[in-house]
Amino acid sequence: MPLLEVRSISKRFGGVRALDGMSLSVDEGEIVGLIGPNGAGKTSFFNVITGILPADEGEIFFQGGQQSLRGLSSDKILKKGLARTFQNLRIFKNMTLLENIAVGMYSRTQSSLWSAFFRTRRFHVEEKKVFKRGMGLLDLMGLANQGNEIAANLSYGNQKRLEIARALATEPKLLLLDEPVAGMNPSEKEEISNLIRKIQKRGIAVLLIEHDMKVVMPLSNRVVVMDDGKKIAEGPPEEIRKNPRVIQAYLGEA
Ligand SMILES: Nc1ncnc2c1ncn2[C@@H]1O[C@H](COP(=O)(O)OP(=O)(O)O)[C@@H](O)[C@H]1O
Ligand SMILES: [Mg+2]
Repeated sequence: MPLLEVRSISKRFGGVRALDGMSLSVDEGEIVGLIGPNGAGKTSFFNVITGILPADEGEIFFQGGQQSLRGLSSDKILKKGLARTFQNLRIFKNMTLLENIAVGMYSRTQSSLWSAFFRTRRFHVEEKKVFKRGMGLLDLMGLANQGNEIAANLSYGNQKRLEIARALATEPKLLLLDEPVAGMNPSEKEEISNLIRKIQKRGIAVLLIEHDMKVVMPLSNRVVVMDDGKKIAEGPPEEIRKNPRVIQAYLGEA
């Protein structure tokens, strides 16, 4: 039984068919690379899985549940253990790193976001735990000792790391990363690749949208290729590299 099983999702925007019967599964602890030319529908696929956009058709099953996640709010989906980062960075820039992570943790528990923001009694009660786990996550992401720094002061690469740390704070079973190394230099890309491997070692599965083949191919246990809202190929990285349909789709883009 796969951890995530997405069956035949369709999504239109007016006349544009962004997703056209797209299916994909992710096994427990697996890293799956999701590639495809610009406009293939990759980000839309994440938006549908995470409840940000409603699907027109299709079903989403998670952790062997009989009930489809389709139609659930993004908040409920997050609580089920499905977390993501965004192609365009989304962090709270005027908050500290630890506060950003606390928001992630509280989005998992009963306390509302407001308690994290305003440090009500509940926040104080749990603060020590939040602090300890938050520091652990920052350490994992290579941001140790910067917990009290304002997020806006971080480099772009470190802000991307912070966004991943915040997603991990929600204790996901599956992490969806949308182009996590976009705009990074080769050594930063290598560091993020290593972090993704560490995340996998913690037993968290990763579905990774990434354009840079040098990053996605060595990381992925399996690669799924999208074009025009559909899956056009799927297999081990070394097979996908040689697949004529995949090469064609990318040549079409160039
Ligand atoms: N919110 C939206 N409203 C209208 N069209 C959209 C929206 N999001 C995506 N699209 C369209 O859907 C198609 C797929 O886009 P997207 O999912 O962003 O592709 P990718 O992430 O693979 O580059 C594109 O044609 C894009 O213009
Ligand atoms: Mg995209």
